[in-house]
Amino acid sequence: MVEERESADRGVASKYVESAKSRPTPIGEIKGEGEHRTSVGIGELDRVLGGGLVKGSVVLVGGDPGIGKSTLMLQAMEALASAGGRVLYVSGEESARQIKLRGERLGAKSSGLLVLAENSLEEILKQASDVKPDAVVVDSIQTLYTPTISSAPGSISQVREGAGQLVMYAKKTGTPVFIVGHVTKDGSIAGPRVLEHMVDTVLYFEGDRGHAFRILRAVKNRYGSTNEIGVFEMKGAGLREVKNPSEIFLAERRLDVTGSVVVSTVEGTRPILAELQALVTPTSFGNPRRTAIGVDFGRFTLLLAVLEKRVGLHLMGQDVYVNVVGGLKVEEPSVDLGLVAAVASALRDVPVPPRTVVMGEVGLGGEVRAVTQAEMRVREAAKLGFDRCIIPASSLKKLPKVKGIEIVGVEQVEGALEALMG
Ligand code: TYD
Ligand code: MG
Repeated sequence: MVEERESADRGVASKYVESAKSRPTPIGEIKGEGEHRTSVGIGELDRVLGGGLVKGSVVLVGGDPGIGKSTLMLQAMEALASAGGRVLYVSGEESARQIKLRGERLGAKSSGLLVLAENSLEEILKQASDVKPDAVVVDSIQTLYTPTISSAPGSISQVREGAGQLVMYAKKTGTPVFIVGHVTKDGSIAGPRVLEHMVDTVLYFEGDRGHAFRILRAVKNRYGSTNEIGVFEMKGAGLREVKNPSEIFLAERRLDVTGSVVVSTVEGTRPILAELQALVTPTSFGNPRRTAIGVDFGRFTLLLAVLEKRVGLHLMGQDVYVNVVGGLKVEEPSVDLGLVAAVASALRDVPVPPRTVVMGEVGLGGEVRAVTQAEMRVREAAKLGFDRCIIPASSLKKLPKVKGIEIVGVEQVEGALEALMG
């Protein structure tokens, strides 16, 4: 026989039902707080946040080590401080002097920018409640430590607890908090991935270190769209905003090379023109090589098969390489036609007219399918001085005339190649 004691606690449900304070309310009667946004002072960051920083929001900024997260955060805090705000930049990775050195390169000198080198969670929260800043940065969540949990800094439980406390602080005080987190290539190390559901906004900072371009991408945003990207360039004096990405991605283009085609991709509300390059060389032995950088590999091989079968190009004995210039990744199907054109141009050794932009999705039957937001893409091309656009015939119907640019509608890949290379 085992004695069973009657529990004084009759279970959570009964407890909560009796003490419930909030009542279900018709949605129309809920008082909206009137979304209040503060500009961070960096246009590209504002854009990715959905139009500025929301009070009490928690933003996770993830990315590979060395990509520029600390730089971006310090620049944003400096911009807020120089606009008269008081902000707290907490670093657990660098000493105050190291931050000062970095700050000098970035021209950060506002008196409202307070720096704290600390990794104890309790101490950070204590200082924050003394200072009452307008925004807080915690760089990085992996260095945060609280003695209430016995595991080491950077472990899942430390990271989760630290983030949980920061979220609570943000919501209680209405202070926006940026949390910086390192991600490794597979995103596996106890890091940002476990935090994504706890925070309001998740931004990833990407780009490869061999290139100066950095792309800030929202992957979750409770206060805005997740399609927007911000483009930056890493310079000697910090990150510089790139207001017109197309110009940068096309800056070093040579006009007479074969295999080079300008394609159009849309990121969020913004069209970006990029140069796609292809190189085709005879295979010297064994299987032909296929290498694609910046485009989806599966799509690339599929398009080569379309070229082979529907257009009759002989690619079996050829190595094919494609690359998107500037370290950009284009994953939209609208670049299909450009890719096909680049490979055909490289194989035939005939250049594509340099002032032409190519867009269109390619189906397995060799047909060219409609693209979204064709008008926006064509306008961007016209703005940058292109004089001809090859677009899917089905996108042509709804398109108004755009000044200074000839628009050619095509139905089949063969027709498109003819329009481009004769
Ligand atoms: P950092 O912000 O420290 O990266 P993270 O915090 O994501 O680890 O940036 C690191 C790189 O940026 C470093 O390799 C040097 C480079 N950098 C510049 O090129 N210019 C600058 O003005 C600064 C501050 C950094
Ligand atoms: Mg850093």
